[in-house]
Amino acid sequence: MSASAERRIAALRDEIHKHDHLYFVENNPQISDEQYDRLVAELRSLESRHPELITPDSPTQRVGERPLSGFKQVRHRVPMLSIDNTYSPDEVRDFDGRVRKLLEVSSIAYVVEPKIDGVAVALRYEAGALVLGATRGDGETGDDITQNVRVIRSIPLRLGGDAWPAVVEVRGEVYWPRKAFDETNRQREATGEPPFANPRNATAGTLKQLDARLVAPRKLAFIAHGVGEIDPLPAEVDRYWLMLDRLRGWGVPTNPHTRRFDDLEALLEFIAEWDAQRHKLAYATDGLVIKVDRFDYRDRLGNTSKSPRWCIAFKYAAEQAQTVVESVDFQVGKLGTITPVANLRPVLLAGTTVRRASLHNFEQVERLDIHIGDTVTIEKAGEIIPQVVSVDGAKRVPGARRVAPPSECPSCGGPVQKDENGVYLRCQNPSCGAQVVERLRFFCGRDQMDIEGAGVALIEALVAAKLVHGYADMFRLHERRDDLLKLERMGEKSVDNLLAGIDAAKSRSLARLLAALAIQHVGASTAEVIAEYFGSLTAIAAADESALQQVEGVGPEVAGSISRWFRSDAGQKTIAALQSAGVDPKQTRREIAADSPFAGKTVVVTGTLKNYSRSQIEDRLKSLGAKVSGSVSKKTAYVVYGDEAGSKLDKARELGVATLSEDEFEHMLTRS
Ligand code: IVH
Repeated sequence: MSASAERRIAALRDEIHKHDHLYFVENNPQISDEQYDRLVAELRSLESRHPELITPDSPTQRVGERPLSGFKQVRHRVPMLSIDNTYSPDEVRDFDGRVRKLLEVSSIAYVVEPKIDGVAVALRYEAGALVLGATRGDGETGDDITQNVRVIRSIPLRLGGDAWPAVVEVRGEVYWPRKAFDETNRQREATGEPPFANPRNATAGTLKQLDARLVAPRKLAFIAHGVGEIDPLPAEVDRYWLMLDRLRGWGVPTNPHTRRFDDLEALLEFIAEWDAQRHKLAYATDGLVIKVDRFDYRDRLGNTSKSPRWCIAFKYAAEQAQTVVESVDFQVGKLGTITPVANLRPVLLAGTTVRRASLHNFEQVERLDIHIGDTVTIEKAGEIIPQVVSVDGAKRVPGARRVAPPSECPSCGGPVQKDENGVYLRCQNPSCGAQVVERLRFFCGRDQMDIEGAGVALIEALVAAKLVHGYADMFRLHERRDDLLKLERMGEKSVDNLLAGIDAAKSRSLARLLAALAIQHVGASTAEVIAEYFGSLTAIAAADESALQQVEGVGPEVAGSISRWFRSDAGQKTIAALQSAGVDPKQTRREIAADSPFAGKTVVVTGTLKNYSRSQIEDRLKSLGAKVSGSVSKKTAYVVYGDEAGSKLDKARELGVATLSEDEFEHMLTRS
């Protein structure tokens, strides 16, 4: 092993940690994404040549390799308690009175922090390296979610600086920033998955995923709000305010809105002002947490059975309003999902007039027992879309009609059926008018075929005038110029613009076209890998489920959905119509020899090869139809090894997995 490689690896890691911190914690990137990627690429390449130098705190090691079969339990050395809530300034005064009385002092310094609506976690650092992430659980014992916290980019894998105690347990909140949450929901809706209703519950659900690869793309974030075990506790850090300074110095994100007050009246003023401020944050908050600053005071105050006596939460009243359900519409989505939506008597809530609220699904309608004419309470949970939270049964008018699930599609009258999970009702008629409009809207949308000028109103008009029935008809509109001119608000100029937009869309990539077809479970990234692998609509249509599963990241569910779509009558007609309208993009395809001995096999590469860099061998294997994996298991078909191969080769031999030296690998290819 060369000492210079070791030094360069250490320098790269420091550099990358520094830029991660600048980007994810300070929000102040100082190099371009490209420069950053180059650093990571160099580190990866060095590590692949010196796998013995890979350590778990290397920035290349964020994503867990294998899904877990369950979570280990961990005991908290310092219990994770909850906090008592208060809802009025008077209750905060009472709290302050209790604290001063117990301590027999006349005034107390408090630290006040936003209360983030997320999930509490404990992060344990030993010798500066992250060794454990745990949920609160019941306060005594939680789940070991280390794999999942490692993929949260604002959580340092290693503390910065060097003056950290041997054990540092940081506690804080994992939360879902609004923008990332909305982005995930947009993607879910695009692939026909139900959107998450509430960021906190969805965060909790995400942290309980056994496969960290599902956690990473959700872009959760972390902010510290306390510490557990610190050993040794530096003598000069005798209050929380100073501890926050230390945490910041170690690269741990803390809340920039944290304030310290010597005076209760100033603190109460801040509480009043903050109500307006908090809406501007990038995450949902429902209040503030007020904490005694001095640690010795905290110790003297101690805990009740549930919560510490030294802190209290101030919660702003949930923003609620009462109104009346005037009617309920059933909206039909592009995949036929029927969503009940309440039309409300307009009411002002948190600064906006609310007229409609999604009821999500019929299970929810039943749970709330909503009748038309009911007086309901609506709420902006985490200040997102308004939700109906309850029905005031006492105000129900006699003869009020229940909201029953429709027995046929409200748009086309076609048959409806509950989905696999029994929660969503779907219209089963693929040529249902509402579905057609929704699908066309999606097809023409900016992230798909991006047809300029094809907005909702136009699409509805085109469908109503029977000028368009399916996607391909869009590309034949130039033959219908006269009919287009007869549509409302369509003059020569708008027709020209529309036709030019359609013409430009003809050359969109295969990946975009595939994503635009609104096949369940096929979003932009899945479409991209499939397009790259198969190269044309015809090739995708010819692939059966097992062929589809050869594509990295495509499992049985996705493969089944694609295969069903391409085999369906409607799917086949759609493809034929698109092709005959001249829409048949090709993508350069990786050629896979039919007799490749690696087709469909999982292969692991380890050590340094003579003739290939790591990415070259991986590309080569992929072009031979192999799935390349980073870890050896019983499912591995071959381990290809080079010089200085380490534990992966040992493990392969242990499990009886076939191993190939580089020469043997080449030999196998010439033979086949
Ligand atoms: S301090 C003894 N500070 O709220 C518990 N908690 O409702 C000390 N939370 O379990 C916790 N923001 O998950 C603290 N700035 C903040 C917080 C915060 C959110 C959560 C935390 C806690 C829950 C209690």
